[in-house]
Amino acid sequence: MHLNSISLKGWRNYQEEKVYFSPGINLFLGNNGQGKTNLLEAIYFLSCGQSPRTSKIEELINLSGKYFYLKGEICRGEIIHAIEMGGARDGRRANKIDGIPLQRLAEVSGLLNTVFFMPEDLYLVKGGPASRRRFLDLEIGQISKGYRYTLGNYKKYLRERNALLKSRVQDKILLQVLTEKLADLTGPIVERRNEYLQKLSILARLKHRKLSGNIEELNLKYNWSIEPGLSHQEILERYAETRLLEQRYKSTLVGPHKDDFSFIINGCDLKAFGSQGQQRTAVLSVKLAEIELIKAETNKYPLLLLDDVFSELDEDRKALLLEYLTDRVQTFISSAEPLQTKAKVVPYWIEAGRISERI
Ligand SMILES: Nc1ncnc2c1ncn2[C@@H]1O[C@H](COP(=O)(O)OP(=O)(O)OP(=O)(O)O)[C@@H](O)[C@H]1O
Ligand SMILES: [Mg+2]
Repeated sequence: MHLNSISLKGWRNYQEEKVYFSPGINLFLGNNGQGKTNLLEAIYFLSCGQSPRTSKIEELINLSGKYFYLKGEICRGEIIHAIEMGGARDGRRANKIDGIPLQRLAEVSGLLNTVFFMPEDLYLVKGGPASRRRFLDLEIGQISKGYRYTLGNYKKYLRERNALLKSRVQDKILLQVLTEKLADLTGPIVERRNEYLQKLSILARLKHRKLSGNIEELNLKYNWSIEPGLSHQEILERYAETRLLEQRYKSTLVGPHKDDFSFIINGCDLKAFGSQGQQRTAVLSVKLAEIELIKAETNKYPLLLLDDVFSELDEDRKALLLEYLTDRVQTFISSAEPLQTKAKVVPYWIEAGRISERI
C-alpha cells in the first residue's frame, strides 16, 4: 500500500496543490515556515480525519478561505482508492471513500495507516497523561473501527454524566443509567488498550535494544484507573466507590478517561530520570514498534511520517533506520537541511505553500 498523490485546497498555507509521491522515501526540503509540517499533517489527516497538532478545524483552513479540501489516491496492489475530506469554518465536515459519503468518521479506519513522529512526540514521555491517552486512542483507532465506536460512545456518556454531576438538581435514575452505560463500555476499552500496550511493549523493547546498542531495556507499563479483567458488576462497584467524592468534584473520577502508561528503562521511569536522548530514542522505538504492529494486524506496512526528527539522530541511528525503511515502508521526511545519505530518496522543495520535485 502506498499514497500515490495528494491534492490540497485551502489547507493551512496551501492554496491549491497536487503532488505525486514515490512509493519509497520522499524527502521534503525547505526553509522554516514554508509548509513541510503542514503537508505531513495533511497526509496524517487523510488516514484518520484528525490532526496530531490541533482538534480545531478552523486552524486547518487557510486564513483567506472558508473551507479545506484534501484528496489522497491510495494504491493497494492494482486497485486505487480515493479518500476525500473537507471541513468548513462552522465545523461541518464531509468525508468520502471512492466517492461514497461516510456516515461516521470511524469508517475511514484502516484504508490508509500512518505512523507520525514529530518533535512534539517527546511529550509522550514528558507530558501529562492526556497526551498518552490520545496517542493510545489514535493508534488503536487506526486498526480497529470497533474501538473508535466504543470510545466515541464512552466519551458521549461521560460528557452527559459530568454535566449531570454539575447540575444543581440531580436525577438519580438518569445518573444510574449513565453509570451503567459507562460500565458497559469500560471493559472493552481497557481490555483493548491493555492488549495493545502489551504487544507494543514487546516490539518496542526489541527496537530499543537495537538502537541503544543492547544496554537499555524498555518497558511500557499500563497504569489503569479500572483494571482489565473485571466483571460488569465489579466495574460498577468501582464507579460506586467514588460516588461521594464525585459529588464534591462534580465530575466522574474513575474510568478509562483517567488511564495512563509509563515508559520504564532499566526499571526507572523515563519521565523522571531519562535524558533527552534516551527519551527521544524511546519514542522512536515506540514508533518503529507501531509500524510492526500495524503490519502484523493489517498485513500491510503503514506510511511513516518523520517531521524534523531525522536530522537529530546520530549517523549510526540514521543509517540503521534508513536501511530498515528502504523497500519496506513508504516514508515522508521533512527537513530544513539536506540529508547526507546513500539511501535512495526522492527530494521535493517546498516554498511558501508550493511543492516542486527537485531534480
Ligand atoms: N490556517 C492557516 N492559514 C494560513 N497559514 C497557516 C495556517 N496554519 C499555519 N499556517 C502557516 O504555515 C506556515 C508553515 O507551517 P509549517 O509548520 O508547515 O512550516 P515548516 O515548513 O514545517 O517549518 P519548520 O521548518 O520551521 O518546521 C507558517 O508560517 C504558519 O503561519
Ligand atoms: Mg515543521
